[in-house]
Amino acid sequence: MRYLTAALAKGRLAAKAMEMFKAAGIPCEEMSESGSRKLIFENKELGMRFFLAKASDVPTYVEYGAADIGIVGKDTLLEEGRRLYEVLDLNIGRCRMCVCGPESARELLKRHELIRVATKYPRIAKDYFYNRKDQTVEIIKLNGSIELAPLVGLSEVIVDIVETGSTLRENGLTVLEEICPLSARMVVNQVSMKTENQRISALIRDFQELVRKKEEQVL
Ligand code: PRP
Repeated sequence: MRYLTAALAKGRLAAKAMEMFKAAGIPCEEMSESGSRKLIFENKELGMRFFLAKASDVPTYVEYGAADIGIVGKDTLLEEGRRLYEVLDLNIGRCRMCVCGPESARELLKRHELIRVATKYPRIAKDYFYNRKDQTVEIIKLNGSIELAPLVGLSEVIVDIVETGSTLRENGLTVLEEICPLSARMVVNQVSMKTENQRISALIRDFQELVRKKEEQVL
């Protein structure tokens, strides 16, 4: 049996994703051992291996088939625009993509002024302003701590992820417009979906069941 490889986005999602694999009967003890510099973890008996990658690289690994499966945020999928199958909303890592800024920027948005928009997600920002709002803006790509931009005068607004909203609040910023809801998704390589159909379909079904059970508990 060949190994099925799963690429997980490093960070907040990875631990939650591993919990789901464990609940689906695919635990990976190796991965929970902290402090290790190991990059690939396996469950030999079940023929599964896992690796952690920078979120924005996960769709790349999956498109090229270096990973059969990926667990990554919808934000990254929209931004990367890779060819792969998005098969399941895992209902974890729920948050929103928003236009944020100081309250004073609301008026600038309304008047369709030529404002500067700082973001880690230029493609999502461009699509929103150019295609959905028909508004010309200048997009400035940043790589982190996006909330800094309006505070130091780099941009009037930002396009960024809002989860609890505490980063915004602590910096005197607010949500001005909502672009879309986000959550973690399971994605599958298009060739693997055919060649490993049985195993991947079973995995999708198990995860679907987990998502359904969790939703039931919430209701
Ligand atoms: C994300 C996002 C916001 C923050 C939102 O940043 O870019 O800054 O989380 O979360 P909140 O609404 O719960 O405060 P992340 O911590 O991933 O790091 P980054 O600044 O490097 O993008």
